[in-house]
Amino acid sequence: MKRRTLFGTVATVGSAVGTALGLNLGEKAAQASTKTDFKGPNFKGDVEPRGTIGQLERLPSLDLESRQDFLTEFRQFVDRDLTRASAVQVNRGLLDRGLDPNGDPPMEQIFAAIEGNPVVGTAVRCWISCQQMTWSTVADEFHGQLDRYLDELDAADKAGPGTLELNPDMDMPDHVKHEIHIQPGGYVGDPLGGYVYHYGTNNFYKRRNHQDEVHAGLARSVPKPADGKVKRILELGCSTGQMAVALKRLYPDAEIWGIDIGAPLVRYAHMRAVELGVDVNFAQRLAEDTKFPDGHFDIVTSYILFHEMPAEISRQVVREAHRILRPGGVFFPIDFYTGSKPPSKNAAQKLRHWWDHRWNNEVWWQEYTALDLGGAMADAGFTVDTNGPRAWIGNTNLLGTKPG
Ligand SMILES: C[S@@+](CC[C@H](N)C(=O)[O-])C[C@H]1O[C@@H](n2cnc3c(N)ncnc32)[C@H](O)[C@@H]1O
Repeated sequence: MKRRTLFGTVATVGSAVGTALGLNLGEKAAQASTKTDFKGPNFKGDVEPRGTIGQLERLPSLDLESRQDFLTEFRQFVDRDLTRASAVQVNRGLLDRGLDPNGDPPMEQIFAAIEGNPVVGTAVRCWISCQQMTWSTVADEFHGQLDRYLDELDAADKAGPGTLELNPDMDMPDHVKHEIHIQPGGYVGDPLGGYVYHYGTNNFYKRRNHQDEVHAGLARSVPKPADGKVKRILELGCSTGQMAVALKRLYPDAEIWGIDIGAPLVRYAHMRAVELGVDVNFAQRLAEDTKFPDGHFDIVTSYILFHEMPAEISRQVVREAHRILRPGGVFFPIDFYTGSKPPSKNAAQKLRHWWDHRWNNEVWWQEYTALDLGGAMADAGFTVDTNGPRAWIGNTNLLGTKPG
């Protein structure tokens, strides 16, 4: 029996067992196909041992897929049930001390109120463990085949449609050298960071983004300039390029650019766009120093970039976006709390944000939530609408228009 046949058999058996157990394995395996019409025509070195589900390449082993299925269920359980149980304990601890859990209690009082509480400790530990296991299982699998995936990236680098620009000699600013949300190697330190980010964040999206549904929705939420003219769009901090690809599908006649400081990210983004046959240009560049000419773009957008930057760099990025937009062009930065709803002052929420910063290595979370991004946009010269379109993260969003 050929290895490939054996693999197919295992997947089918896995499917039947998964269905019997009420797991998602069955659904996934049943939908799996080896090739789909999403394939781009020019990419010869594609590594895809288990075919695709729609436009998502399946994880390279059934074992990993199964682990990720478990971790997705685990994350749902932690985010919903354990987090709720923990919040009850936090609030009760504050009330026992005569403090209002919704009255913006100081962190010292929150720490004192939860000291030694096993429910709170277990909830946080489970979340962090889920995050660690999500990254490490994916990273271990791809790194176990390092040469194979490096060859895949190499083969795609020069393929089209679309272009890739890498800048191996550029100086990396300190602020990009962190392992944000404890992704091993971060965005710049692991040559397979794109694979790790894509499949790791699939866990974060809890199966809602396997076909880039989230990014397609984000792209649809990006407003056009008032005159309706859209020739060029830029996404800052594009990571694996999912939103840039979605923008190209929405605006097939426009030139689309995605830039990111992480070479592993833009390489993966380009490879994936090539596989999907979508014509996008990716470049390794800084959002605060894009190298594009003045007035070049009709739309500049970003998705969850700013909360991962120091506030001063965010201000520079906003000024850069203003410089490269044409008069009448729009800047639409999608991120947490960009609209009228500020972060909650509830004790459990404050604790959540604190440990996200402390243990999930969201390095600039506190700086970001203290930053007045709308104010920074107005300072840069934008006319700011604080009640812009809604995007996936469920907030109203800031919209800047460059006066024309
Ligand atoms: C949370 S990820 C963005 C997510 C991405 N837009 C998506 O759709 O998944 C933040 C990205 O911003 C990039 N980044 C951080 N600082 C940057 C900078 N100064 N210039 C360009 N990219 C940067 C990181 O490399 C990372 O890929």
